[in-house]
Amino acid sequence: MSTLPFWLAGTAATGDSELTVVNPYTGEVAGRVSVPSADQVEQAVDAARAVAAEAAALPAHAKAAALDHISRRIGERAEEIARTITAESGKPIKWARVEAARAVSVFRWAAEEARRDSGELQRLDTDPGATGRIALIRRVPHGPVLGISPFNFPLNLVAHKIAPAIAVGAPIVLKPAPATPMTALLLGEIIAETDLPAGLVSVLPMPNDLAGRLIDDERVPVISFTGGAFGWEIRKRVPHKHVTLELGGNAAAVVLDDADLEWAAGRIALFGNNQAGQVCIGVQRVVVTDAVHDEFVARLVEKVEALGTGDPADAGTDVGPLVNEAAAIRVQEWVEEAVAGGARVLTGGTRDGVTVAPTVIVDAPADSRVVRQEVFGPVLVIQRVADTDAAFAAVNDSDFGLQAGVFTRDLPTAFRAQRELEVGGVIIGDVPTFRADQMPYGGVKGSGVGREGVRAAMTDLTYERVMVLTGITL
Ligand code: SIN
Repeated sequence: MSTLPFWLAGTAATGDSELTVVNPYTGEVAGRVSVPSADQVEQAVDAARAVAAEAAALPAHAKAAALDHISRRIGERAEEIARTITAESGKPIKWARVEAARAVSVFRWAAEEARRDSGELQRLDTDPGATGRIALIRRVPHGPVLGISPFNFPLNLVAHKIAPAIAVGAPIVLKPAPATPMTALLLGEIIAETDLPAGLVSVLPMPNDLAGRLIDDERVPVISFTGGAFGWEIRKRVPHKHVTLELGGNAAAVVLDDADLEWAAGRIALFGNNQAGQVCIGVQRVVVTDAVHDEFVARLVEKVEALGTGDPADAGTDVGPLVNEAAAIRVQEWVEEAVAGGARVLTGGTRDGVTVAPTVIVDAPADSRVVRQEVFGPVLVIQRVADTDAAFAAVNDSDFGLQAGVFTRDLPTAFRAQRELEVGGVIIGDVPTFRADQMPYGGVKGSGVGREGVRAAMTDLTYERVMVLTGITL
């Protein structure tokens, strides 16, 4: 098995050490990737800095052509990419295929946004003192970006860092998760086929403890991080930098009296467990009103038990392994802790190596970790409430706020949910897990700061620069 090179300023290179990537399900080596030396990391940052002015001035057609090319090539190599995602992350192949398709759309959207990114003309002659003046407002990149991506979407959360950076002409150094670097390197290979200037994109796998130099490097003023609570440490460490954090949460799905229970049960069963619950907006808390509680829970358990579990390489598998055994053990311990506090397990609750059975719990203590923290495992925690008021209060009783789903067919309730729920996104009639890649995506409270989603990320990576023209009559 050959060692995959990394991408240093658009060129394949090898370094002085390696990462071994393990298939979580089989325990076999899925691949080996080269890790850059300290000098090579330095070269990538030098190249990013050196190309910044040229990149910011790239014509829209050049950026859009490159982004379209990347989108098309991901589509052409989708099956190979999906199999790589499954091999390195344990994600069931059906979800890996969805992820590849989503990345096609992220790069396509970025191409479209690059073409229409024209700035804004503002008239200033609204007061006599500014007669004959107009403002042209354009967004310019803050500068080179350090993107740090997680293991749970080895392609698409890399795409969400790189595509908007190319669209605005911001050089980016991407550090993929050490558990899942192979897909990001495949993407690096596709990016290297484009005519983008060298230095615009580097993909540098490395163990997390080597990332400190990149975080501290003053030539990289922007950090876009998706992952766990470590993101807050980054913000404390470099408070003067522009840091965007997407840090997950304990997403709630609310099932109200008027919900379509069959639909809600099916969606919650699936999207509390797909990718073994390792999705930042995967359903964790299920807040159900009294009137429908018993019927809903019976349907939910039936649907959870019907999920296909096992080998992620099988097309029928919905729920595969966690990323490693330590993660599976932690999830099991949290479930056991809840049970010791009085919770009942309606289904699941068992672990076989790296795989945790899809689990439904009721009566978990309000302060237990399965309620308060991010489980990141296939565990649904039912919370019974009296009515809509109590349901919304339960959603907001969280240190996190990424997305929430509300199963209702009542329009005023939908608007009330958007008004009252302390989250970055409210999904009416579906699970919090729904995400279209062009939507603004990000959280409040412990879930992070800033927004991704192609257009929102382009805004985040840039600042407004105003040019005032004098002697102009509109
Ligand atoms: C995440 O887990 O943060 C991303 C979820 C998604 O893109 O669907």
